[in-house]
Amino acid sequence: MISQGVYGSPDLLSLREIEVPVPAKHEVRVRVHSAALHVGDCFGVRGKPLLMRMETGLRKPKHGIPGYDVAGYVDAVGEDVTRFQVGDQVFGSCQGACAELVCTGEDTLALKPSEITFEQAAAVPTSGLAALHALRDVAKVQARQSVLIIGASGGVGTFAVQIAKSLGAEVTGVCSTPNVDLVRSLGADHVFDYTREDFAESGRRYDVIFDNIENRSLSDCRRALTPTGTLILNSGTGAQGVSFLVRLLKPLLISPFLRQRLCRYLSTPNAADLSVLAEMLKSAAITPVIGRTYSLIETADAIRHIETGRAKGKTIIRIGDGG
Ligand SMILES: NC(=O)c1ccc[n+]([C@@H]2O[C@H](COP(=O)([O-])OP(=O)(O)OC[C@H]3O[C@@H](n4cnc5c(N)ncnc54)[C@H](OP(=O)(O)O)[C@@H]3O)[C@@H](O)[C@H]2O)c1
Repeated sequence: MISQGVYGSPDLLSLREIEVPVPAKHEVRVRVHSAALHVGDCFGVRGKPLLMRMETGLRKPKHGIPGYDVAGYVDAVGEDVTRFQVGDQVFGSCQGACAELVCTGEDTLALKPSEITFEQAAAVPTSGLAALHALRDVAKVQARQSVLIIGASGGVGTFAVQIAKSLGAEVTGVCSTPNVDLVRSLGADHVFDYTREDFAESGRRYDVIFDNIENRSLSDCRRALTPTGTLILNSGTGAQGVSFLVRLLKPLLISPFLRQRLCRYLSTPNAADLSVLAEMLKSAAITPVIGRTYSLIETADAIRHIETGRAKGKTIIRIGDGG
């Protein structure tokens, strides 16, 4: 596995040998083929924004192993596990996915569709579920509604474009010039290249705006929403200290006084929704976009790549052959 004992630069990550983990009663041990990283892993490594330490450990990392997304083979099962057996190909969520063997609850895994690779499967859980929960559950997107996805070429955005299309929406993506073709290929009906056009000045209005970047003012976003539209804010982490809290809380505090709905949400992994995504993968309603693949020893480079804010699709860590 790769881990760090203190918060700081990704250079502090180093390869370590640990004892083979033993699954608890409801846990499955997975021999990892691939893991995926996302922005949250960068926060976990740096320990910033400080608020994140409530989850990852106040003074030093509780776990210190990056990665929440995993795909591989079931290697052992706890005595109460009913859904999986040794040899099954699975994907799902776990703490510390950047390791050869990981244990996680059976309720955070689903069977990997045979139609996709392990790398593609590892790409799905955090970002696919975040997109599904935002569009299906928070915004309750209906057929023929207009949906604007800001950050359409990123980890969450590439799933969001495809999921919004499969819900029957008319989808507009926002990305930069090199990613316009990608976002169109995912099914977006319209694309704003933000280096040339400004969605907030276009005069178009959307029933739902899913903002994965949050570099625009609330008034810009509200101007592009229909009078009763929903704005889902899904970042808020660019600022620090008090401005971070203001950015996080202001929309929630003013929303009850508006006809428009401004919201944040927390996507929680669960087996039922992983299975929903598995069905969408089987039918090719969604296809994961993999930007770059790194080896375990290159995890620090992968973290730095995500930190640029320019990562395309998902960033994968290839760990073993899983067999
Ligand atoms: N609510 C939840 O439970 C939950 C769960 C998972 C993730 N999240 C959050 O979701 C957010 C997005 O995560 P992610 O993994 O999708 O991020 P990401 O993959 O790191 O986003 C990178 C992408 O953002 C695009 N981008 C950068 N600046 C942009 C701009 N001004 N306008 C449009 N696109 C821009 C880049 O494309 P270009 O190079 O084309 O600019 C790049 O493709 C994060 O803040 C994460 O914390 C929330």
